[in-house]
Amino acid sequence: MIQSVLIFVFLCLLTTAVASGSLAPWVPSRKKDLIRIFKLADLKPGEIFYDLGCGDGRLTVCAAKNFKARAIGIELALPLFFACAIKKLFNRNELLKFKLKNLFKENLAEADVVYIFAQSPGKLKGKIKQKLENELKPGSRVITYAFPVEGWRPEIIDKPSDQDVAVYLYKF
Ligand SMILES: C[S@@+](CC[C@H](N)C(=O)[O-])C[C@H]1O[C@@H](n2cnc3c(N)ncnc32)[C@H](O)[C@@H]1O
Repeated sequence: MIQSVLIFVFLCLLTTAVASGSLAPWVPSRKKDLIRIFKLADLKPGEIFYDLGCGDGRLTVCAAKNFKARAIGIELALPLFFACAIKKLFNRNELLKFKLKNLFKENLAEADVVYIFAQSPGKLKGKIKQKLENELKPGSRVITYAFPVEGWRPEIIDKPSDQDVAVYLYKF
């Protein structure tokens, strides 16, 4: 029993450490910015929404619940995935899905909107930028929070004041 608990704790710590070094450690998007984010996303019922590194699942839940999108949250850190799984239990929404997975292993060919909150601009170039360019279909949108994607021209940069976090919209 103790051994199982120790293995579980070890896996929680390991997956959290790996995720922190991959895209970003868990820092949630501000709740008050969800309105701005989804206004830019212009998400329609039935569209496929992804949050790559979904943290506690707040955007994924909002996309399914308020916009009737098929919302998929991808999260690598085990404790955060469990938090998402609990939200899923309470929401009982068929449109809502969470996957315990490395975002780099998910094929994004069907995505209409992809949301990414990375740790720094440096994380939004190289591997992840290449993945989006290779997999996203024409007409899909990418929203990034706080940092732009190097080398892409945003359609809109939403930053109402100096105190606000910038939200970037890109269209494919
Ligand atoms: C800055 S937080 C953003 C959380 C959420 N998207 C939000 O905006 O509230 C980044 C999240 O990405 C997760 N993450 C980092 N690398 C990942 C990877 N390779 N695959 C899946 N999730 C990852 C982290 O565990 C963390 O929860």
